Amino acid sequence: MKNQIEQLKKEKNAVILAHYYAPAEVQEIADYVGDSFYLAKIAKQSKADIIVFCGVYFMGESAKILNPDKKVLMPDLTADCAMAHMVADGIIDEMRNKYDDLAVVCYINSTAELKCQSDVCVTSSNAVEIVKALPNKNIFFIPDRNLGRFVAEQIPEKNIIINDGYCPIHAKIAADQLTAVKEKYPRAIVLSHPECEPEILKLSDYIGSTADIITYAKQSDVNEFIICTEDGVNYKLVTDNPDKKFYFPNPHPCCADMKLNALESVLSVLLNEDKEVIVDDAVRIGSLLPLERMLELGK
Ligand code: 13P
Ligand code: SF4
Repeated sequence: MKNQIEQLKKEKNAVILAHYYAPAEVQEIADYVGDSFYLAKIAKQSKADIIVFCGVYFMGESAKILNPDKKVLMPDLTADCAMAHMVADGIIDEMRNKYDDLAVVCYINSTAELKCQSDVCVTSSNAVEIVKALPNKNIFFIPDRNLGRFVAEQIPEKNIIINDGYCPIHAKIAADQLTAVKEKYPRAIVLSHPECEPEILKLSDYIGSTADIITYAKQSDVNEFIICTEDGVNYKLVTDNPDKKFYFPNPHPCCADMKLNALESVLSVLLNEDKEVIVDDAVRIGSLLPLERMLELGK
């Protein structure tokens, strides 16, 4: 399968992008593997005719919005991010009516329709610096309450109103599960994604995006880590650091949608070119600006 994928990629001038949560065998054959911000930048710069995006729908959709003339395919178009939809109808208008000087800051884990109603997108690796750089004092942060709270704690001078969405996978990591791993491996330090609930972040030694966690573990002198994020990151952590140990809370956090990106489906979509991401023109134009603003401010 891997050989066939390689051959098809060459024949069709296709490139494979995979998120760190994709299955290990897909990360292995991907041309670029990274966090959401890195993959959005790569998608924007790509010279390929076809982008195969192994992630969840909002990621493939963002790649298409940034590359309207390219064919963006996904191994499984039903791979969705539950949090991407967690903003109540009408709430953005309500907030805009309430505050004159409001910036709607939209985590990239959101539908394109939500991006259309926003001023700027952010990812977990640039949210703090982008919100800091905005001239607005009043910010409505959608959809993630946990990333929103993490940003607000670091920018106390702004009034950050937080929408009540969350990632069901990170929200399931419970403090007693983390405490049990900490007791078992007392020398390990805790690296967590900001989508975790506050009680997990309070018990953490470092908080960052998937790429930040991977960089931190590589540069650290410590040899044992407890990782509070989706367990797909284990592949890169172990590849980069064969002598270090990585533990996860039990049960391992696992995003079933990310795991829909099976190797067989990558091959099939490259062969048949049938699972194409299509974005309506009006939605594409409306959501391009906040995405481009993110790429500009996050440079
Ligand atoms: P990153 O911003 O670290 O890629 O995280 C994306 C995500 O979906 C986390 O659950
Ligand atoms: Fe969405 Fe959570 Fe899956 Fe990330 S881990 S893609 S936030 S459901």
